[in-house]
Amino acid sequence: MPGRLLWRDAVTDPEALLRLAMDAAGEAGRLLASWRGDERPEVIDTKSSPTDVVTEMDRRSEAVITDRVRAVRPGDTVLGEEGGQTQGGHDVDAAGDRARVRWVVDPLDGTVNYLYGLPDWAVSIAAEVDGTILAGVVAVPRFGETFTAVAGQGAWLHRDGDPDSAVRLRCNSGVALGQALVGTGFGYDSARRRVQGEVVAALLPHVRDIRRGGSAAVDLCSVAAGRMDAFFERGLNYWDYAAGGLIAREAGALVGGLNGKAESTSMTVAAGPELFGALGAFLSNLDPERDTPRGREPRA
Ligand code: IPD
Ligand code: CA
Ligand code: CA
Repeated sequence: MPGRLLWRDAVTDPEALLRLAMDAAGEAGRLLASWRGDERPEVIDTKSSPTDVVTEMDRRSEAVITDRVRAVRPGDTVLGEEGGQTQGGHDVDAAGDRARVRWVVDPLDGTVNYLYGLPDWAVSIAAEVDGTILAGVVAVPRFGETFTAVAGQGAWLHRDGDPDSAVRLRCNSGVALGQALVGTGFGYDSARRRVQGEVVAALLPHVRDIRRGGSAAVDLCSVAAGRMDAFFERGLNYWDYAAGGLIAREAGALVGGLNGKAESTSMTVAAGPELFGALGAFLSNLDPERDTPRGREPRA
Protein backbone atom coordinates (compact mmCIF):
# COMPACT_ATOMS: atom_id res chain seq x y z
CA MET A 1 0.00 0.00 0.00
CA PRO A 2 1.77 3.18 -1.14
CA GLY A 3 0.35 5.54 1.53
CA ARG A 4 1.17 3.05 4.24
CA LEU A 5 4.77 4.16 4.69
CA LEU A 6 3.65 7.71 5.31
CA TRP A 7 1.24 6.46 7.96
CA ARG A 8 4.13 4.75 9.69
CA ASP A 9 5.90 8.08 10.08
CA ALA A 10 6.78 7.93 13.76
CA VAL A 11 5.18 11.32 14.35
CA THR A 12 1.85 10.49 12.74
CA ASP A 13 1.45 6.70 13.07
CA PRO A 14 -2.33 6.41 13.64
CA GLU A 15 -1.99 3.27 15.74
CA ALA A 16 0.38 5.07 18.11
CA LEU A 17 -2.05 8.00 18.20
CA LEU A 18 -4.88 5.57 18.99
CA ARG A 19 -2.93 4.00 21.86
CA LEU A 20 -2.28 7.41 23.38
CA ALA A 21 -5.92 8.40 22.91
CA MET A 22 -7.03 5.17 24.62
CA ASP A 23 -4.65 5.81 27.55
CA ALA A 24 -5.86 9.38 27.95
CA ALA A 25 -9.55 8.45 27.62
CA GLY A 26 -9.08 5.61 30.11
CA GLU A 27 -7.48 7.90 32.69
CA ALA A 28 -10.12 10.60 32.21
CA GLY A 29 -12.91 8.00 32.35
CA ARG A 30 -11.58 6.61 35.66
CA LEU A 31 -11.47 10.12 37.10
CA LEU A 32 -15.06 10.80 36.01
CA ALA A 33 -16.30 7.42 37.25
CA SER A 34 -14.62 7.96 40.62
CA TRP A 35 -17.39 10.45 41.38
CA ARG A 36 -19.61 8.31 43.53
CA GLY A 37 -22.76 10.30 42.96
CA ASP A 38 -23.69 10.87 46.61
CA GLU A 39 -24.20 14.45 45.60
CA ARG A 40 -24.41 16.03 42.20
CA PRO A 41 -21.16 17.48 40.90
CA GLU A 42 -21.28 21.24 41.21
CA VAL A 43 -22.26 23.26 38.13
CA ILE A 44 -19.53 25.89 37.88
CA ASP A 45 -20.45 27.60 34.61
CA THR A 46 -22.93 27.70 31.75
CA LYS A 47 -22.26 28.09 28.04
CA SER A 48 -24.85 28.61 25.29
CA SER A 49 -27.89 28.60 27.63
CA PRO A 50 -28.66 28.19 31.37
CA THR A 51 -29.12 24.42 30.82
CA ASP A 52 -25.81 24.04 28.91
CA VAL A 53 -23.74 23.41 32.02
CA VAL A 54 -20.10 22.84 32.87
CA THR A 55 -19.08 20.93 35.97
CA GLU A 56 -15.73 20.87 37.68
CA MET A 57 -15.40 17.33 36.32
CA ASP A 58 -15.63 18.44 32.66
CA ARG A 59 -12.62 20.70 33.26
CA ARG A 60 -10.66 18.18 35.31
CA SER A 61 -11.21 15.52 32.66
CA GLU A 62 -9.97 17.82 29.90
CA ALA A 63 -6.89 18.73 31.99
CA VAL A 64 -6.07 15.03 32.45
CA ILE A 65 -6.33 14.41 28.70
CA THR A 66 -4.34 17.49 27.70
CA ASP A 67 -1.61 16.73 30.26
CA ARG A 68 -1.36 13.11 29.11
CA VAL A 69 -1.10 14.08 25.43
CA ARG A 70 1.35 16.92 26.04
CA ALA A 71 3.57 14.74 28.26
CA VAL A 72 4.20 12.49 25.25
CA ARG A 73 3.68 14.90 22.34
CA PRO A 74 4.37 18.46 23.50
CA GLY A 75 4.18 19.96 20.00
CA ASP A 76 0.66 18.84 19.09
CA THR A 77 -2.37 21.09 18.90
CA VAL A 78 -5.31 20.33 21.18
CA LEU A 79 -8.89 21.43 20.44
CA GLY A 80 -10.87 20.82 23.62
CA GLU A 81 -14.46 21.74 24.34
CA GLU A 82 -13.57 23.45 27.58
CA GLY A 83 -10.17 25.00 26.82
CA GLY A 84 -10.55 25.83 23.13
CA GLN A 85 -7.63 25.38 20.78
CA THR A 86 -4.10 25.46 22.20
CA GLN A 87 -0.89 25.11 20.24
CA GLY A 88 1.93 22.92 21.45
CA GLY A 89 5.15 24.44 22.69
CA HIS A 90 7.55 23.04 20.10
CA ASP A 91 8.11 20.04 17.85
CA VAL A 92 6.45 21.72 14.87
CA ASP A 93 6.62 20.18 11.42
CA ALA A 94 9.26 20.72 8.76
CA ALA A 95 7.55 23.88 7.53
CA GLY A 96 8.10 25.15 11.03
CA ASP A 97 4.74 26.79 11.39
CA ARG A 98 2.20 24.25 12.53
CA ALA A 99 1.82 20.90 14.22
CA ARG A 100 0.67 18.04 11.98
CA VAL A 101 -1.40 16.39 14.69
CA ARG A 102 -4.46 17.92 16.34
CA TRP A 103 -6.40 16.25 19.14
CA VAL A 104 -10.14 16.90 19.19
CA VAL A 105 -11.45 16.35 22.70
CA ASP A 106 -14.86 16.21 24.34
CA PRO A 107 -13.79 15.45 27.92
CA LEU A 108 -17.33 14.56 29.01
CA ASP A 109 -19.99 14.04 26.36
CA GLY A 110 -23.35 13.73 28.05
CA THR A 111 -22.76 16.15 30.90
CA VAL A 112 -26.48 16.32 31.74
CA ASN A 113 -26.64 12.51 32.08
CA TYR A 114 -23.53 12.65 34.27
CA LEU A 115 -25.07 15.34 36.43
CA TYR A 116 -28.21 13.26 36.97
CA GLY A 117 -26.40 9.97 37.56
CA LEU A 118 -27.49 8.39 34.26
CA PRO A 119 -24.90 6.07 32.70
CA ASP A 120 -24.78 7.30 29.09
CA TRP A 121 -21.78 9.62 29.09
CA ALA A 122 -18.41 9.29 27.46
CA VAL A 123 -14.93 10.62 26.91
CA SER A 124 -14.35 11.29 23.21
CA ILE A 125 -10.92 11.84 21.66
CA ALA A 126 -10.03 12.00 17.96
CA ALA A 127 -6.59 12.50 16.41
CA GLU A 128 -6.30 14.41 13.14
CA VAL A 129 -3.20 14.28 10.97
CA ASP A 130 -2.91 17.18 8.52
CA GLY A 131 -6.62 17.88 8.99
CA THR A 132 -7.91 14.31 8.50
CA ILE A 133 -9.22 12.24 11.40
CA LEU A 134 -7.19 9.02 11.50
CA ALA A 135 -7.91 7.65 14.99
CA GLY A 136 -10.80 7.91 17.42
CA VAL A 137 -11.78 6.65 20.87
CA VAL A 138 -15.08 6.86 22.73
CA ALA A 139 -14.81 5.47 26.27
CA VAL A 140 -18.09 4.78 28.10
CA PRO A 141 -16.97 4.02 31.67
CA ARG A 142 -20.32 3.14 33.26
CA PHE A 143 -20.70 0.30 30.74
CA GLY A 144 -17.00 -0.68 30.79
CA GLU A 145 -16.86 -0.22 27.03
CA THR A 146 -14.36 1.53 24.79
CA PHE A 147 -15.04 2.02 21.08
CA THR A 148 -12.08 2.63 18.80
CA ALA A 149 -11.24 3.08 15.14
CA VAL A 150 -8.25 3.77 12.95
CA ALA A 151 -9.04 4.98 9.43
CA GLY A 152 -9.12 2.03 7.04
CA GLN A 153 -8.85 -0.59 9.80
CA GLY A 154 -12.39 -1.03 11.03
CA ALA A 155 -14.17 -0.16 14.26
CA TRP A 156 -13.75 -2.15 17.45
CA LEU A 157 -15.38 -2.57 20.84
CA HIS A 158 -13.14 -3.37 23.84
CA ARG A 159 -14.53 -4.42 27.21
CA ASP A 160 -12.75 -3.32 30.39
CA GLY A 161 -10.74 -5.94 32.18
CA ASP A 162 -10.55 -8.19 29.13
CA PRO A 163 -7.75 -7.03 26.84
CA ASP A 164 -8.40 -9.89 24.40
CA SER A 165 -12.06 -9.09 23.95
CA ALA A 166 -11.95 -6.69 21.00
CA VAL A 167 -14.99 -7.27 18.80
CA ARG A 168 -15.20 -5.87 15.28
CA LEU A 169 -18.26 -3.68 14.78
CA ARG A 170 -20.66 -3.66 11.84
CA CYS A 171 -23.58 -1.28 11.56
CA ASN A 172 -26.97 -2.65 10.56
CA SER A 173 -27.61 -2.79 6.83
CA GLY A 174 -30.68 -3.03 4.63
CA VAL A 175 -33.01 -1.46 7.20
CA ALA A 176 -36.08 0.27 5.75
CA LEU A 177 -37.02 3.64 7.21
CA GLY A 178 -40.26 2.24 8.63
CA GLN A 179 -38.27 -0.40 10.56
CA ALA A 180 -35.53 1.90 11.79
CA LEU A 181 -34.69 2.69 15.40
CA VAL A 182 -33.41 6.25 15.09
CA GLY A 183 -31.42 8.19 17.66
CA THR A 184 -31.32 11.95 17.82
CA GLY A 185 -30.52 14.78 20.19
CA PHE A 186 -31.53 18.33 20.91
CA GLY A 187 -29.45 21.47 21.29
CA TYR A 188 -29.49 23.79 24.26
CA ASP A 189 -31.08 26.76 22.46
CA SER A 190 -34.88 26.88 22.82
CA ALA A 191 -35.61 28.25 19.31
CA ARG A 192 -33.61 25.40 17.81
CA ARG A 193 -35.33 22.88 20.09
CA ARG A 194 -38.74 24.00 18.86
CA VAL A 195 -37.78 23.13 15.30
CA GLN A 196 -36.08 19.90 16.44
CA GLY A 197 -39.32 18.90 18.18
CA GLU A 198 -41.32 19.56 15.00
CA VAL A 199 -38.89 17.46 12.98
CA VAL A 200 -39.10 14.54 15.42
CA ALA A 201 -42.92 14.78 15.51
CA ALA A 202 -43.03 14.53 11.71
CA LEU A 203 -40.54 11.65 11.60
CA LEU A 204 -41.94 9.56 14.46
CA PRO A 205 -44.94 8.06 12.57
CA HIS A 206 -42.58 6.87 9.83
CA VAL A 207 -39.96 4.95 11.87
CA ARG A 208 -39.91 2.10 14.38
CA ASP A 209 -39.11 4.47 17.24
CA ILE A 210 -36.92 7.34 18.38
CA ARG A 211 -34.21 7.36 21.09
CA ARG A 212 -32.63 10.35 22.82
CA GLY A 213 -29.64 8.96 24.67
CA GLY A 214 -27.96 12.20 25.76
CA SER A 215 -24.47 11.65 24.35
CA ALA A 216 -23.90 12.12 20.64
CA ALA A 217 -20.58 10.23 20.85
CA VAL A 218 -22.34 7.21 22.39
CA ASP A 219 -25.16 7.50 19.83
CA LEU A 220 -22.70 7.30 16.94
CA CYS A 221 -21.04 4.26 18.54
CA SER A 222 -24.49 2.71 18.97
CA VAL A 223 -24.99 3.00 15.21
CA ALA A 224 -21.57 1.39 14.72
CA ALA A 225 -22.52 -1.48 17.05
CA GLY A 226 -25.98 -2.03 15.49
CA ARG A 227 -27.71 -0.95 18.69
CA MET A 228 -29.49 1.76 16.72
CA ASP A 229 -30.09 1.86 12.99
CA ALA A 230 -29.48 5.56 12.50
CA PHE A 231 -28.68 8.82 14.24
CA PHE A 232 -29.11 12.43 13.28
CA GLU A 233 -28.65 15.71 15.08
CA ARG A 234 -28.46 19.36 14.16
CA GLY A 235 -26.12 21.63 16.08
CA LEU A 236 -23.38 19.27 17.17
CA ASN A 237 -19.90 20.61 17.68
CA TYR A 238 -16.89 19.02 16.03
CA TRP A 239 -15.73 17.40 19.28
CA ASP A 240 -19.15 15.70 19.66
CA TYR A 241 -18.84 13.74 16.40
CA ALA A 242 -15.12 13.67 15.47
CA ALA A 243 -14.29 10.29 17.09
CA GLY A 244 -17.79 8.75 16.93
CA GLY A 245 -18.13 9.68 13.26
CA LEU A 246 -14.93 7.81 12.38
CA ILE A 247 -16.08 4.80 14.44
CA ALA A 248 -19.48 4.71 12.72
CA ARG A 249 -17.88 5.07 9.28
CA GLU A 250 -15.35 2.33 9.99
CA ALA A 251 -18.27 0.08 11.00
CA GLY A 252 -19.75 0.53 7.52
CA ALA A 253 -22.10 3.45 8.12
CA LEU A 254 -22.36 6.49 5.92
CA VAL A 255 -21.81 9.68 7.88
CA GLY A 256 -22.62 13.04 6.37
CA GLY A 257 -24.94 16.02 6.24
CA LEU A 258 -28.02 16.56 4.07
CA ASN A 259 -28.10 16.83 0.27
CA GLY A 260 -24.61 15.46 -0.27
CA LYS A 261 -22.88 17.74 2.22
CA ALA A 262 -20.30 16.59 4.74
CA GLU A 263 -21.28 16.18 8.38
CA SER A 264 -21.03 19.46 10.23
CA THR A 265 -22.52 21.57 12.96
CA SER A 266 -25.45 22.17 10.63
CA MET A 267 -26.39 18.47 10.43
CA THR A 268 -24.84 15.09 11.15
CA VAL A 269 -26.53 11.89 9.94
CA ALA A 270 -25.17 8.36 10.37
CA ALA A 271 -26.76 5.12 9.15
CA GLY A 272 -26.17 2.05 7.01
CA PRO A 273 -25.90 2.99 3.32
CA GLU A 274 -29.52 2.30 2.29
CA LEU A 275 -31.10 3.92 5.31
CA PHE A 276 -28.79 6.92 5.10
CA GLY A 277 -30.33 7.87 1.75
CA ALA A 278 -33.93 7.34 2.87
CA LEU A 279 -33.53 9.16 6.18
CA GLY A 280 -31.57 11.99 4.58
CA ALA A 281 -34.26 12.52 1.94
CA PHE A 282 -37.03 12.44 4.57
CA LEU A 283 -35.21 14.93 6.79
CA SER A 284 -34.33 17.18 3.90
CA ASN A 285 -38.03 17.54 3.04
CA LEU A 286 -38.67 18.69 6.62
CA ASP A 287 -36.08 21.48 6.29
CA PRO A 288 -34.57 20.79 9.72
CA GLU A 289 -31.96 23.53 9.28
CA ARG A 290 -34.59 26.28 9.08
CA ASP A 291 -33.90 27.71 12.56
CA THR A 292 -30.90 29.67 11.23
CA PRO A 293 -31.22 32.18 8.37
CA ARG A 294 -29.63 30.84 5.20
CA GLY A 295 -25.99 31.77 4.81
CA ARG A 296 -25.44 32.29 8.51
CA GLU A 297 -24.59 28.73 9.44
CA PRO A 298 -21.94 28.27 12.09
CA ARG A 299 -18.82 26.61 10.73
CA ALA A 300 -17.88 23.22 12.13
C1 IPD B 1 -24.16 17.17 24.19
C2 IPD B 1 -24.52 15.72 23.99
C3 IPD B 1 -25.97 15.61 23.59
C4 IPD B 1 -26.27 16.39 22.34
C5 IPD B 1 -25.87 17.84 22.52
C6 IPD B 1 -24.39 17.93 22.92
P1 IPD B 1 -22.31 17.77 26.05
O1 IPD B 1 -22.79 17.31 24.55
O2 IPD B 1 -23.72 15.13 22.99
O3 IPD B 1 -26.36 14.27 23.33
O4 IPD B 1 -27.66 16.33 22.08
O5 IPD B 1 -26.07 18.49 21.27
O6 IPD B 1 -24.03 19.28 23.10
O7 IPD B 1 -22.78 19.19 26.23
O8 IPD B 1 -22.91 16.83 27.01
O9 IPD B 1 -20.82 17.66 25.94
CA1 CA C 1 -20.51 16.99 23.73
CA1 CA D 1 -18.82 17.98 26.80
